[in-house]
Amino acid sequence: MNAKPQLRRSSDLPIEAERLLDALPTLPKVALEVIRLVDSPFASAADLRRAVGEDAILTARILQAVNASTHGLSRRIADIERAILILGLNTVRNLAIITSAERFFQPRREAGRFRSLANELWRHATTTASAAKLLAMELPEPHPYLTSEEFYVIGLIHDVGIMAELYSDRDRLIEALERVQPLDDIARSEGSAPRKDLRALELEVFGFDHAALGRRLCDRWQFPTFLLDGVGFHHSPMDAAEDAQPAAVLVSIADRVAASVPGGFADDLPSLEVDDEELELIGLDEEALDRVRYQLQADLAPAPRR
Ligand SMILES: [Fe+2]
Ligand SMILES: [Fe+2]
Repeated sequence: MNAKPQLRRSSDLPIEAERLLDALPTLPKVALEVIRLVDSPFASAADLRRAVGEDAILTARILQAVNASTHGLSRRIADIERAILILGLNTVRNLAIITSAERFFQPRREAGRFRSLANELWRHATTTASAAKLLAMELPEPHPYLTSEEFYVIGLIHDVGIMAELYSDRDRLIEALERVQPLDDIARSEGSAPRKDLRALELEVFGFDHAALGRRLCDRWQFPTFLLDGVGFHHSPMDAAEDAQPAAVLVSIADRVAASVPGGFADDLPSLEVDDEELELIGLDEEALDRVRYQLQADLAPAPRR
């Protein structure tokens, strides 16, 4: 008999989770179309231009990205098709996902407790994204199939499942958050019970956690597999398939680095510690981690006033 518990596939989520996801705002049509086109072997840059052209914010994002990457050219690029050819299809898809994530985490019409929690989660999302990108840039060898930009995107959406709970059943989420045991309260004595964090409470309150829910949401949105894995395993990277483990480990470290900045979101973490074995697994060491922490703090510090 195999003693290891079988992984729950996204389709194994309780029907309640599917119902919860049914109540969510859908991904913008343009983002879905861009993701579909990038996956299609028959799509051209012109098809992508037509799809992107429907969304002014995404268009602006792409032009901003291309002009930043071709800094030094005498003329600014204003033609979206040319921008797509220069940036490449994957970058355009990543930008479509980033733009959608921004809208999902920062809805215009919500207020009160929803707004403050969404703001807190968005701050944590962007900090984790930056930490994941910085960690990826420290890797001694580039990841075999993910760029540092892609690590940024995984970091940005890793807790999308909490946001989904906030949209669909905020009372239950708030109830769970209020019962989270503060990090300082963890009894350090040998054999003590682990901290009661948000994941444990989600299992009690919802019957599933935000990692599984977020993975299923990304699946519904037809996001690429690397995002499904990054979101689904950000709390349990060693449960991922072997080739997906290093990326999941990196994101899980980025999550804790982001949670340790002042005011960082740490409710879903049993502890903020990063141990040497985890770093070793992705070829990093304490010094690399310190550089990332330092750089992150510097990036987050407000610009000095003049
Ligand atoms: Fe999480
Ligand atoms: Fe997180």
